[in-house]
Amino acid sequence: MKTILLAGGAGYIGSHTAVELLNSGYNVVVVDNYANSCPESIKRVEKITGKKVALYEADVKDKSKLEKIFSENKIDAVIHFAGLKAVGESVKMPVEYYRNNIDTTLSLLETMKKFNVGNIIFSSSATVYGEDNKVPYTEEMKRGTCTNPYGWTKVMMEQILEDTAKANPDMSVILLRYFNPIGAHESGMIGEDPQGIPNNLMPYVAQVAVGRRDHLTIYGNDYPTPDGTCRRDYIHVVDLAKGHVKAIDYVFTTKGVEIFNLGTGTPYSVTEIVTTFERVNNMKLKYEYGPRRQGDLPESYANADKAYRLLGWKTEKTLEDMCKDLWRWQSNNPNGYKK
Ligand code: NAD
Ligand code: WQD
Repeated sequence: MKTILLAGGAGYIGSHTAVELLNSGYNVVVVDNYANSCPESIKRVEKITGKKVALYEADVKDKSKLEKIFSENKIDAVIHFAGLKAVGESVKMPVEYYRNNIDTTLSLLETMKKFNVGNIIFSSSATVYGEDNKVPYTEEMKRGTCTNPYGWTKVMMEQILEDTAKANPDMSVILLRYFNPIGAHESGMIGEDPQGIPNNLMPYVAQVAVGRRDHLTIYGNDYPTPDGTCRRDYIHVVDLAKGHVKAIDYVFTTKGVEIFNLGTGTPYSVTEIVTTFERVNNMKLKYEYGPRRQGDLPESYANADKAYRLLGWKTEKTLEDMCKDLWRWQSNNPNGYKK
């Protein structure tokens, strides 16, 4: 049985991926410093799956801690989720973002080398397509110009991983470019639990629905899109997690670097999201239209053909599933993982 180390595995996408890996017969080791999560998510992963996770509290930048984890577990592959991800915060705290996101990557790569582990999957982002490329995005497009330090950390980490693979031909590196992950596990036991005021649309919608925020502001309705609001490629987090299992299966069969978009290929507008959430959950959401948010692109969506061709992966869940599952998680856990 192969063992996968999830760096940053207690977070939103990591916890859902842990469930799918355990259900597919992999052993899971998680390391997290709980900068944006808590150990409760992994307790719930164990409840959902009936399987144990080896859980370590440590900073992934800290090589001595990583070495202890690698010596106590025979790691076959790493999935690197550990990072700070709030776009607006990264503009205010660029040094913290570069330090955390790049150093975690370098420490992981150095420790992997020391322990002769050559397989790594990296949580990249559609944000690397930047402002210059045209939708739908395909993997061979050049990385573009980002509008914020968070995005640049992803561009730089992709470059670091590509250079490392080039210098070490036995390595297998997979860059997964996520589009907009939303929703929650259908059990309603794990989900997204942002600290403070949510930056992203869906956690904000869910907190308005549960009464933690007064109303949603839709940022701009004068974009060149069918209804004037921005369009994004929202992907159910469980579909995304299953994409990681396919990528893990694949990472053991190849060498070099492979890039995959993980998205549905179908964009929805902010207004469509809000009205779908209202319809499937049978409620009204208080919202108003406000000015555009700086840095937002009118449209971002994937061409997801490559992941289907090489990994045999495609999304199965609908926008209705995403909205229902999000509400099940939020209504069962109005304050997230806090009691
Ligand atoms: P998240 O914040 O829920 O998970 C990231 C985890 O990493 C958290 O548990 C956090 O505590 C941990 N972490 C951060 N720095 C660490 C460090 N130095 N040492 C140990 N642990 C550390 O975010 P998520 O949504 O699950 O995202 C996972 C990854 O996917 C991130 O790298 C993110 O940039 C990337 N990504 C996310 C999205 C999205 O919209 N959610 C989109 C594209 C890419
Ligand atoms: C979606 C749409 C907003 C909040 C971000 C990162 C990206 C990736 C995913 C990590 C936009 C609108 C939002 C609100 C709104 N993350 N909106 N009111 O900006 O597409 O992508 O998360 O890699 O890098 O940039 O996602 O959820 O913030 O916004 O109207 O209160 O919802 O304008 O059109 P985004 P989002």
